[in-house]
Amino acid sequence: MKKIFSISLTLLLLIASFGLAVTYIVGTSADFPPFEYVQNGKYVGFDMDLISTIAKTEGFNVEIRDMSFDSLIPALRSGVIDIAIAGMTITKDRSKVVDFSDPYWFADQDVIVNKNSNYTVTVLFGNHKIGVQTGTTGDLWVSDNLLKAGFIKQNNLKRYQSFIYSLQALLNGAVDAVVLDSPVAKRFAQMRPVKVVATLMTGESYGIAVKKGNSRLIDQINDGLKKLKASGEMSKLIDKYFGK
Ligand code: ARG
Repeated sequence: MKKIFSISLTLLLLIASFGLAVTYIVGTSADFPPFEYVQNGKYVGFDMDLISTIAKTEGFNVEIRDMSFDSLIPALRSGVIDIAIAGMTITKDRSKVVDFSDPYWFADQDVIVNKNSNYTVTVLFGNHKIGVQTGTTGDLWVSDNLLKAGFIKQNNLKRYQSFIYSLQALLNGAVDAVVLDSPVAKRFAQMRPVKVVATLMTGESYGIAVKKGNSRLIDQINDGLKKLKASGEMSKLIDKYFGK
């Protein structure tokens, strides 16, 4: 009798703990290989694996929501999503409105052009069209250093909701160059007929973001990151997406 009682108690606890595992809605912008992209109708990439491995370690579930990069922070603030993971650079301005995890990746900005063009870094100056993804640090860099400084005209800065569109614009000649994160520029250069002609040493770190003040969730995410590094799972993920 005692045994049956303890077995059913264990079962009950098991059911309860499964039922209690929360599901967090994770926002991303799935246009950013190898961090997040769509393959065979699934969201895949380094960030996708990273967040689901953290979730497994910390005992929560995740559900991915794809949206434009510039809606991620508003979506966190309004509670439409709980977590944003999108190769998102930790910046001072963003840190005022959301909380970031410890950094998990480092990047600069690269300038890409069509493979068969003769453009060099000077493509950034003069009468050329520059493509960026709206609201990214690439957008900020071009806006601050080229537009405000008077090197390019307003209508030569082309903002796209998705990097997929900015890449298409480059390939079909609608823009002369695209400014984007260095790891992604290098990946695009392997996949498509484009090349990197310059690197802007912006020294960025990527973090996972949550709603401002959600310290419980950010602590869990940081704890997960630490555990993945210690267990070697982080290096496995790096090999999977960045290994040769
Ligand atoms: N690191 C840059 C930023 O934070 C670009 C990120 C773009 N991410 C994406 N999934 N499209 O602004």
